[in-house]
Amino acid sequence: MGFIIAVDGPAASGKGTIANVLAKDFGFPFLDTGLLYRAVGVRLLADHQDLDDGAAAEACARGLELSALERPEVRTRAAGEAASRVAVHAGVRAALLDLQKSFAAHEPGAVLDGRDIGTVITPHAQAKLFVTAAPEVRAERRWRQLNGQGEAVTYEEILADIRKRDERDSGRHSAPLAKAEDAVLLDTSEKTIDAAIDAARRIVEAARAKAGI
Ligand code: DC
Repeated sequence: MGFIIAVDGPAASGKGTIANVLAKDFGFPFLDTGLLYRAVGVRLLADHQDLDDGAAAEACARGLELSALERPEVRTRAAGEAASRVAVHAGVRAALLDLQKSFAAHEPGAVLDGRDIGTVITPHAQAKLFVTAAPEVRAERRWRQLNGQGEAVTYEEILADIRKRDERDSGRHSAPLAKAEDAVLLDTSEKTIDAAIDAARRIVEAARAKAGI
């Protein structure tokens, strides 16, 4: 089995940045699993389908083409909200399971980030990080990012989005956002990006040493 690095956490916690750097460090492929749910949400919105219709959302997830993950629309605020709504459907999650599991099986290793990687997708991952930060800090980061992409949105709107998303992602029945018992908590609220990355590297190095690598 390859060495799997599972990085979970709420929206805009910094988990994507951290996961990306770890993947480059180790030369492992990286899957941002949020993009899968975002692509399903974007597709349904484009087809004027109801995001709360579990059967339609599942059919869409089953037909998902990986090229859809590359489209700029999946990175918008609307896509994040749509993703969180389609992600509550157990059928959608089941449809995306095999793809994520086979990605995780890459040799000599893989990095995945999301909400349920350490708990559901790869509970056997050798390195698990749960990256979090205070909602206000995450809202500030996401606001800067979306503004940089040209989206006109206020900090207050983003903070409200983040709170709503946290509640939906953590409160859903199917594979809710949760820290795996054996995941290491990394709170980035008061850390610079570089300090957060250093802390993440240390967590993974410790896990590699434990795995005898
Ligand atoms: O990480 P992100 O913001 O791109 O994720 C968008 C939404 O997708 C998130 O609010 C919930 C859902 N998601 C999920 O349910 N499980 C994952 N592994 C990844 C994302």
